[in-house]
Amino acid sequence: MEKRILLIHGPNLNMLGIREPEIYGRTTMEQINQEMIELGKRLGAEVECYQSNSEGALIDKIQSAYGAKDGIIINPGAYTHYSYAIHDAIKAVALPAVEVHLSDIQSREEFRRISVIRPACCDQVAGLGKDSYLVALEKLITDYVS
Ligand code: DQA
Repeated sequence: MEKRILLIHGPNLNMLGIREPEIYGRTTMEQINQEMIELGKRLGAEVECYQSNSEGALIDKIQSAYGAKDGIIINPGAYTHYSYAIHDAIKAVALPAVEVHLSDIQSREEFRRISVIRPACCDQVAGLGKDSYLVALEKLITDYVS
């Protein structure tokens, strides 16, 4: 059966392509979504894409995955570094989730080095630009979604 994957982009990721391209590249969120949908098809997965700038909306979306999705890919944006509520939401639905970052958060400012989301996830992919998303999807499907 086709796997059902939810791709979630957090705050400011709707600005990809415009936002600090020297750090995040010139690919837009829409282009990433298209590539993810296409890769999903090749891997036997249906990828639903979602973006919000609001913590509560992101939590609602994660909760909606319960019983409806087989796994989650999430770039929590800056919420990565302090949202215990998003951490708890991922734990609550108990779905395999892979955390994604375009940039290498370990080699940037001090505050980016901590991810409070990571312990709720089964894996993290960072620093590969838009390819972080593609690698994360492949990992999620091959290693974690049964
Ligand atoms: C990011 C890294 C975060 O620190 C930042 O706040 C973002 C994007 C990334 O994809 O590299 O919004 O998650």
